[in-house]
Amino acid sequence: MNYIEQIDTSRLPQHIAIIMDGNGRWAKGKGKLRIFGHHNGVRSVREAIEGSDDLGIKYLTLYTFSSENWNRPKFEVSAIMELLIGTIHKEIANLMEKNVRLNTIGDIEMLPKKAHRELTDAIEKTSKNTGLTLTLALSYSSRREITQAAKSLALKVEQGLIKADDIDEKMFADNLYTGDMPDPELLIRTSGEFRVSNYLLWQIAYAELYFTPKLWPDFRKDDLFEAILDFQKRERRFGMISEQVN
Ligand code: FPP
Repeated sequence: MNYIEQIDTSRLPQHIAIIMDGNGRWAKGKGKLRIFGHHNGVRSVREAIEGSDDLGIKYLTLYTFSSENWNRPKFEVSAIMELLIGTIHKEIANLMEKNVRLNTIGDIEMLPKKAHRELTDAIEKTSKNTGLTLTLALSYSSRREITQAAKSLALKVEQGLIKADDIDEKMFADNLYTGDMPDPELLIRTSGEFRVSNYLLWQIAYAELYFTPKLWPDFRKDDLFEAILDFQKRERRFGMISEQVN
Protein backbone atom coordinates (compact mmCIF):
# COMPACT_ATOMS: atom_id res chain seq x y z
CA MET A 1 0.00 0.00 0.00
CA ASN A 2 1.41 3.42 -0.82
CA TYR A 3 1.82 6.17 1.76
CA ILE A 4 -1.24 8.26 0.90
CA GLU A 5 -3.59 5.26 1.22
CA GLN A 6 -2.36 4.59 4.76
CA ILE A 7 -3.20 8.10 5.98
CA ASP A 8 -6.24 8.45 8.23
CA THR A 9 -7.94 11.47 6.67
CA SER A 10 -10.05 12.01 9.79
CA ARG A 11 -6.89 12.81 11.82
CA LEU A 12 -4.94 15.16 9.59
CA PRO A 13 -2.89 18.04 10.95
CA GLN A 14 -4.75 21.25 10.10
CA HIS A 15 -1.54 23.19 9.76
CA ILE A 16 1.88 21.94 8.60
CA ALA A 17 4.99 24.13 8.80
CA ILE A 18 8.16 23.28 6.92
CA ILE A 19 11.77 24.40 7.30
CA MET A 20 13.06 23.85 3.77
CA ASP A 21 16.76 23.19 4.27
CA GLY A 22 19.65 21.71 2.32
CA ASN A 23 19.46 23.47 -1.06
CA GLY A 24 23.07 24.62 -0.88
CA ARG A 25 24.44 21.20 0.11
CA TRP A 26 22.36 19.50 -2.58
CA ALA A 27 23.87 21.74 -5.26
CA LYS A 28 27.39 21.46 -3.86
CA GLY A 29 27.08 17.68 -3.94
CA LYS A 30 26.49 17.97 -7.67
CA GLY A 31 29.40 20.34 -8.16
CA LYS A 32 27.03 23.25 -8.87
CA LEU A 33 26.45 26.71 -7.43
CA ARG A 34 24.16 27.01 -4.38
CA ILE A 35 21.51 28.79 -6.43
CA PHE A 36 21.09 25.63 -8.54
CA GLY A 37 19.80 24.04 -5.34
CA HIS A 38 17.30 26.87 -4.75
CA HIS A 39 16.03 26.52 -8.33
CA ASN A 40 15.50 22.80 -7.83
CA GLY A 41 13.84 23.48 -4.48
CA VAL A 42 10.93 25.06 -6.34
CA ARG A 43 9.80 21.63 -7.58
CA SER A 44 9.71 20.47 -3.94
CA VAL A 45 7.63 23.52 -3.01
CA ARG A 46 5.17 22.48 -5.72
CA GLU A 47 5.12 18.89 -4.44
CA ALA A 48 4.45 20.06 -0.87
CA ILE A 49 1.58 22.24 -2.08
CA GLU A 50 0.09 19.49 -4.25
CA GLY A 51 0.47 16.87 -1.52
CA SER A 52 -1.26 19.15 1.00
CA ASP A 53 -3.97 19.90 -1.52
CA ASP A 54 -4.50 16.18 -2.32
CA LEU A 55 -5.25 15.55 1.36
CA GLY A 56 -7.22 18.71 2.05
CA ILE A 57 -4.73 20.18 4.55
CA LYS A 58 -5.92 23.69 5.44
CA TYR A 59 -2.62 25.52 6.16
CA LEU A 60 0.93 25.07 4.85
CA THR A 61 3.62 27.49 6.03
CA LEU A 62 7.04 27.47 4.35
CA TYR A 63 10.20 29.05 5.79
CA THR A 64 11.36 30.67 2.57
CA PHE A 65 13.72 33.43 3.73
CA SER A 66 14.70 34.27 7.29
CA SER A 67 15.75 37.69 8.58
CA GLU A 68 19.20 36.17 9.09
CA ASN A 69 19.33 35.14 5.40
CA TRP A 70 19.89 38.82 4.46
CA ASN A 71 23.47 38.26 5.67
CA ARG A 72 24.21 35.75 2.89
CA PRO A 73 26.41 36.84 -0.05
CA LYS A 74 24.68 39.56 -2.09
CA PHE A 75 24.68 37.39 -5.19
CA GLU A 76 22.75 34.61 -3.44
CA VAL A 77 20.22 37.01 -1.90
CA SER A 78 19.43 38.62 -5.27
CA ALA A 79 19.21 35.23 -6.96
CA ILE A 80 16.69 34.01 -4.34
CA MET A 81 14.64 37.22 -4.76
CA GLU A 82 14.64 36.81 -8.57
CA LEU A 83 13.59 33.19 -8.14
CA LEU A 84 10.78 34.22 -5.82
CA ILE A 85 9.51 36.86 -8.28
CA GLY A 86 9.69 34.45 -11.25
CA THR A 87 8.09 31.58 -9.38
CA ILE A 88 5.14 33.58 -8.06
CA HIS A 89 4.58 35.01 -11.53
CA LYS A 90 4.65 31.58 -13.16
CA GLU A 91 2.66 29.73 -10.50
CA ILE A 92 -0.21 32.17 -9.97
CA ALA A 93 -2.44 30.39 -12.55
CA ASN A 94 -1.71 27.11 -10.83
CA LEU A 95 -2.57 28.55 -7.40
CA MET A 96 -5.86 29.87 -8.77
CA GLU A 97 -6.70 26.52 -10.35
CA LYS A 98 -5.98 24.74 -7.06
CA ASN A 99 -8.02 27.31 -5.10
CA VAL A 100 -4.93 28.15 -2.98
CA ARG A 101 -4.87 31.39 -0.99
CA LEU A 102 -1.42 32.96 -0.77
CA ASN A 103 -0.30 34.71 2.39
CA THR A 104 2.99 35.92 3.89
CA ILE A 105 4.40 36.41 7.35
CA GLY A 106 7.50 38.45 8.11
CA ASP A 107 8.84 41.88 7.39
CA ILE A 108 7.95 41.90 3.70
CA GLU A 109 8.55 45.67 3.45
CA MET A 110 12.26 44.71 3.48
CA LEU A 111 11.94 42.84 0.17
CA PRO A 112 12.96 44.44 -3.13
CA LYS A 113 10.09 46.52 -4.58
CA LYS A 114 9.47 44.12 -7.46
CA ALA A 115 9.20 41.09 -5.16
CA HIS A 116 6.93 43.03 -2.82
CA ARG A 117 4.66 44.04 -5.71
CA GLU A 118 4.53 40.52 -7.19
CA LEU A 119 3.60 39.11 -3.78
CA THR A 120 0.95 41.68 -2.92
CA ASP A 121 -0.63 41.21 -6.38
CA ALA A 122 -0.71 37.43 -5.92
CA ILE A 123 -2.10 37.76 -2.38
CA GLU A 124 -4.86 40.04 -3.69
CA LYS A 125 -5.66 37.76 -6.68
CA THR A 126 -5.91 34.64 -4.51
CA SER A 127 -7.63 36.31 -1.55
CA LYS A 128 -11.06 34.81 -2.29
CA ASN A 129 -9.77 31.25 -2.68
CA THR A 130 -11.06 28.85 -0.07
CA GLY A 131 -8.71 25.85 -0.30
CA LEU A 132 -5.23 25.58 1.15
CA THR A 133 -3.75 28.71 2.75
CA LEU A 134 -0.12 28.80 1.63
CA THR A 135 1.97 31.10 3.80
CA LEU A 136 5.50 32.07 2.82
CA ALA A 137 7.64 33.22 5.75
CA LEU A 138 9.79 35.94 4.20
CA SER A 139 12.30 38.14 5.98
CA TYR A 140 10.90 36.32 8.99
CA SER A 141 12.22 36.16 12.54
CA SER A 142 10.12 34.65 15.27
CA ARG A 143 11.82 36.64 18.01
CA ARG A 144 11.12 39.85 16.09
CA GLU A 145 7.49 38.80 15.65
CA ILE A 146 7.16 38.17 19.39
CA THR A 147 8.90 41.46 20.22
CA GLN A 148 6.54 43.35 17.89
CA ALA A 149 3.50 41.73 19.49
CA ALA A 150 4.79 42.77 22.95
CA LYS A 151 5.38 46.32 21.70
CA SER A 152 1.94 46.66 20.14
CA LEU A 153 0.28 45.44 23.34
CA ALA A 154 2.43 47.78 25.45
CA LEU A 155 1.33 50.65 23.21
CA LYS A 156 -2.34 49.75 23.71
CA VAL A 157 -1.79 49.74 27.49
CA GLU A 158 -0.02 53.11 27.24
CA GLN A 159 -2.95 54.53 25.26
CA GLY A 160 -5.40 53.20 27.83
CA LEU A 161 -7.11 50.91 25.30
CA ILE A 162 -6.47 47.80 27.40
CA LYS A 163 -5.22 47.04 30.91
CA ALA A 164 -2.00 45.06 31.43
CA ASP A 165 -4.10 42.52 33.26
CA ASP A 166 -6.28 41.93 30.16
CA ILE A 167 -3.32 40.41 28.33
CA ASP A 168 -3.63 36.66 28.11
CA GLU A 169 -2.24 34.00 25.78
CA LYS A 170 -5.08 34.42 23.29
CA MET A 171 -4.63 38.18 23.03
CA PHE A 172 -0.88 37.73 22.66
CA ALA A 173 -1.31 35.11 19.91
CA ASP A 174 -3.81 37.38 18.10
CA ASN A 175 -1.07 40.03 17.87
CA LEU A 176 1.39 37.74 16.08
CA TYR A 177 1.59 37.65 12.26
CA THR A 178 -0.25 34.33 12.50
CA GLY A 179 -3.18 35.79 14.48
CA ASP A 180 -5.77 34.38 12.08
CA MET A 181 -4.28 30.89 11.75
CA PRO A 182 -4.39 27.80 13.95
CA ASP A 183 -1.00 26.73 15.38
CA PRO A 184 1.00 24.21 13.32
CA GLU A 185 0.50 20.67 14.59
CA LEU A 186 3.37 19.26 12.56
CA LEU A 187 6.75 20.90 11.91
CA ILE A 188 8.97 19.26 9.29
CA ARG A 189 12.64 20.09 8.80
CA THR A 190 14.71 18.63 5.98
CA SER A 191 18.47 18.10 5.65
CA GLY A 192 19.15 16.27 8.91
CA GLU A 193 19.51 19.40 11.07
CA PHE A 194 17.80 19.30 14.47
CA ARG A 195 17.07 22.97 15.07
CA VAL A 196 14.06 25.29 14.86
CA SER A 197 16.11 28.31 13.72
CA ASN A 198 13.93 31.16 14.99
CA TYR A 199 10.81 29.76 13.26
CA LEU A 200 7.32 30.08 14.77
CA LEU A 201 8.68 29.71 18.32
CA TRP A 202 5.41 30.64 20.02
CA GLN A 203 3.22 28.74 17.57
CA ILE A 204 5.04 25.36 17.74
CA ALA A 205 4.59 24.99 21.51
CA TYR A 206 2.67 21.72 21.03
CA ALA A 207 3.69 20.81 17.45
CA GLU A 208 5.08 17.38 16.66
CA LEU A 209 8.59 17.78 15.26
CA TYR A 210 9.67 15.65 12.32
CA PHE A 211 13.22 15.63 10.98
CA THR A 212 14.28 13.96 7.75
CA PRO A 213 17.80 13.64 6.32
CA LYS A 214 16.44 14.34 2.81
CA LEU A 215 17.76 17.57 1.32
CA TRP A 216 14.96 19.94 0.30
CA PRO A 217 15.36 19.59 -3.52
CA ASP A 218 14.80 15.82 -3.10
CA PHE A 219 11.61 16.27 -1.06
CA ARG A 220 8.53 14.79 -2.79
CA LYS A 221 4.84 14.28 -1.97
CA ASP A 222 5.62 10.86 -0.50
CA ASP A 223 8.01 12.48 1.99
CA LEU A 224 5.18 14.72 3.11
CA PHE A 225 2.85 11.73 3.41
CA GLU A 226 5.49 9.80 5.37
CA ALA A 227 5.80 12.71 7.81
CA ILE A 228 2.00 12.79 8.24
CA LEU A 229 1.92 9.03 8.87
CA ASP A 230 4.59 9.46 11.51
CA PHE A 231 2.54 12.30 13.05
CA GLN A 232 -0.48 10.00 13.21
CA LYS A 233 1.50 7.43 15.21
CA ARG A 234 2.39 9.95 17.90
CA GLU A 235 0.40 10.28 21.08
CA ARG A 236 -0.39 13.96 21.55
CA ARG A 237 -0.86 14.39 25.28
CA PHE A 238 -0.68 18.17 25.82
CA GLY A 239 0.75 17.58 29.30
CA MET A 240 -1.92 15.03 30.29
CA ILE A 241 -1.50 11.28 30.83
CA SER A 242 -2.11 8.56 28.25
CA GLU A 243 -5.43 7.38 29.76
CA GLN A 244 -6.86 10.90 29.57
CA VAL A 245 -6.23 11.38 25.87
CA ASN A 246 -7.22 7.88 24.72
C1 FPP B 1 17.56 26.68 2.65
O1 FPP B 1 18.62 25.94 2.08
C2 FPP B 1 16.75 27.35 1.62
C3 FPP B 1 16.54 28.69 1.49
C4 FPP B 1 17.13 29.68 2.41
C5 FPP B 1 15.75 29.26 0.38
C6 FPP B 1 14.44 28.55 0.12
C7 FPP B 1 13.97 28.90 -1.23
C8 FPP B 1 13.42 28.04 -2.11
C9 FPP B 1 13.14 26.62 -1.83
C10 FPP B 1 13.06 28.47 -3.49
C11 FPP B 1 12.03 29.54 -3.63
C12 FPP B 1 10.79 29.29 -2.88
C13 FPP B 1 9.56 29.70 -3.23
C14 FPP B 1 8.44 29.55 -2.27
C15 FPP B 1 9.28 30.31 -4.53
P1 FPP B 1 20.10 26.41 2.39
O2 FPP B 1 20.51 27.37 1.34
O3 FPP B 1 20.20 26.92 3.79
O4 FPP B 1 20.90 25.06 2.23
P2 FPP B 1 22.21 24.60 3.03
O5 FPP B 1 21.82 24.47 4.48
O6 FPP B 1 22.56 23.30 2.39
O7 FPP B 1 23.25 25.66 2.81
